[in-house]
Amino acid sequence: MMRATDLAHLVMRQSIKAGDWVIDATVGNGHDTLFLAEIVGPTGRVFGFDVQLEALERTAERLAHLPQVTLVHDGHENLSGHLLPDTSDQLSGVMFNLGYLPGASRETITRAESTLGGLDQALAHLGVPGVVTVVMYPGHDGGEEETVAVRAFAEGLGPSFTVMRHSRLNSARPAPELLTIHRIN
Ligand SMILES: C[S@@+](CC[C@H](N)C(=O)[O-])C[C@H]1O[C@@H](n2cnc3c(N)ncnc32)[C@H](O)[C@@H]1O
Repeated sequence: MMRATDLAHLVMRQSIKAGDWVIDATVGNGHDTLFLAEIVGPTGRVFGFDVQLEALERTAERLAHLPQVTLVHDGHENLSGHLLPDTSDQLSGVMFNLGYLPGASRETITRAESTLGGLDQALAHLGVPGVVTVVMYPGHDGGEEETVAVRAFAEGLGPSFTVMRHSRLNSARPAPELLTIHRIN
């Protein structure tokens, strides 16, 4: 069985390389941040966002030896404000892992409105080729509403983007989903 997060890594690994600038839009415990940092290496940049200070502090300690990582205590809906002006059109990958942080309070979940704001800004800074991965969990409270909103947002994108939706990733119903958005021109 392949987890949605593993499939997101597979897609990202095919799309980014050493020296690239990328974003982890939902840092949490930092698994995706570390994964991205290892690929882009010391010549690349990883910007990580989370609204939970405690998670960010733990992750910052674990990733302190990686100078390519910048962690930002803010929501991904404010992403644009934290990037340098010359980051415009430079990002090659952005990862979203929605929902709540396992082991932490379920009160701090991602929510449709801010997620769509973050996606909109991520896509505005995406280069060609570039990819955004979104792992979604329709099974928890509020998750279905968010999943439906993200699917609709992706379907409404213009011709510069192509969208793939991976569903039925495990036997749970509803199962986690992976949505990928590639910028193609
Ligand atoms: C499923 S967890 C991410 C797991 C993480 N990728 C990892 O490897 O551990 C979702 C995270 O999104 C964060 N979050 C919630 N709303 C957010 C927002 N508006 N902007 C950025 N992060 C947010 C939560 O605090 C939580 O840590």
